[in-house]
Amino acid sequence: RSAQELIRPQLPAELSERGKCPFDPATGLTELSGRGRIHRIAHNGDTVWLVTGHDEARAVLAAPQMSSDRINSPRAKALISPELHAELFPPERQAGSFIFMDAPEHTRFRRLLTGQFTVRRMRDLTPRIHEIVTTRLDAMVEKGPPADLVHDFALPVPSLVICELLGVDYGDRDEFQRRTAKLLSLTTTIDEQIKNTVELRQFMRGLVLAKRNNPGDDLLSGLVRDTDLDDNELTGIANLLLIAGHETTANMLALGTFALLEHPDQFAKLRDNPELTENAVEELMRYLSIISMGVSRHAKEDVEIGGVTVRAGETVVVSVPAVNRDDRQYDDPHALLVDRPRGHHVAFGHGIHQCLGQQLARVEMAVGFTELLRRLPTLELAVPAAEVPLRTDMSIYGVHRLPVTW
Ligand code: HEM
Repeated sequence: RSAQELIRPQLPAELSERGKCPFDPATGLTELSGRGRIHRIAHNGDTVWLVTGHDEARAVLAAPQMSSDRINSPRAKALISPELHAELFPPERQAGSFIFMDAPEHTRFRRLLTGQFTVRRMRDLTPRIHEIVTTRLDAMVEKGPPADLVHDFALPVPSLVICELLGVDYGDRDEFQRRTAKLLSLTTTIDEQIKNTVELRQFMRGLVLAKRNNPGDDLLSGLVRDTDLDDNELTGIANLLLIAGHETTANMLALGTFALLEHPDQFAKLRDNPELTENAVEELMRYLSIISMGVSRHAKEDVEIGGVTVRAGETVVVSVPAVNRDDRQYDDPHALLVDRPRGHHVAFGHGIHQCLGQQLARVEMAVGFTELLRRLPTLELAVPAAEVPLRTDMSIYGVHRLPVTW
C-alpha cells in the first residue's frame, strides 16, 4: 500500500477516475449517485460507506460521532503493524496536525488559528496578492508565448502567498514544493513518506526556532508570540498550513483555467464581466471538486445517516465530486455556468473542519482569474486538450502542466 492509502481509502477506478470529460466525476460515480445517496463499497480489502448525496454529506461532516483521526482509525491500525504505525506516526509528529483531531482537542487549535486568520490579516494581504499575481503575469508575458501556466503562474502565486503568510523565505520553495508533492502522491511508499515527513518537519522546526529568536509580523511569529503552543505543535501547524495552503489553490488556478478554456462561452462571459468573478470562483470550486478522493471519517459510535446505520469503527467517504453534482441540489449539475447562483458546495468541506484557508483561497483565485483574463484576453491552449497531462496520481486533482498561448 502507498502511504496515502493508509489515511485515504481507495475506491475502484470506475468510481475514482474522471469521466469522459476531464472535469466530470467518474461515469460509474454519476450512475451510482442516480441510484441513492449512501452506498456500501468493497474494494482492495476495504469496505466503506460512500456518500454521494448533498444533505447526507453535510450530515456526516457535522456529526460529532464522526472522527477525523484518520491516523489512529481502526482502519489505519488494521493495515499496518503497531511497530510501523509507531514509526510512521510518533506522537511528536502528530502534534499540531489539527486536521486529524476531534473536538475538544481540535477546538483548541482551531480557535488559536482563527485568531490569526483574521479578516484584517486577509484584507492586508489582498494588495500583496495583487502584486504577486501582476508580477508573475508580467514575467510570463515578457518571456512570451507559449508558457506553462502551472510553472509560471498557478504554482508560484499560492506558494508566494503562503510564504508571505508564514514568513517562509521563497528561496526555500523547492524544499517544500518537492516534499509536499511527494507527500500528496498516491504512489509514495511508506518509507519515502517517513523520510519526507521527517525532512519537511526539520525544515519547519528550523523556521519555528527562527521565529522564536527573531519574530516578524507574519502568522507564525504571531502564534509564537501570542500562544503557549510548544515547538512540536507549532511545527505541525506550519507544516499543515504549508501543505494545505499551496497545492490546492495552485490546482484550482490551473484546472480552473483549463476548464474555462474548454468552455469558450464561459471564458468570454467571465472575461467581459469581471464582476462575475467571485461567483465564477464558487462555480469552479463546485464543478471541479479537486479533492477528488473525497473527505473521509470513521464512526466513533453507531450513527444513522441517510437511512442506514453506520456502525462504530466503519469508514465513511464523502465523495466531493459526486456531492457537488447532486441533481437534487443543482439544476443541470454537469454544466459549468459562471453566473450560476451560489449554492452550498462542499469543495471546502463542512462542519468543524471546514477549510480554514477558504477566504484566502477565494481572494487568490478571484485576483488570479480576473487578472489572467484581463491581461491575456485571447488566452488559449497551446496543445490539443487531450494532451494536457492530468494529475490522476495525486490525492489532489489538477494538471501537471498547462501549455498556453495568447
Ligand atoms: C481543511 C479544501 C485552500 C488550510 C480543508 C478541507 C477541505 C479543504 C475540503 C476539509 C478537510 C476535512 O474535513 O477533513 C481546500 C481547497 C483549497 C484550500 C479546495 C483551495 C482552493 C486552503 C488554504 C489554506 C488551507 C489556502 C491555508 C492557508 C486548511 C486547513 C484545514 C483545511 C488548515 C484544516 C482545518 C481543520 O481541520 O479545522 N481544506 N483548501 N486550505 N484547509 Fe483547505
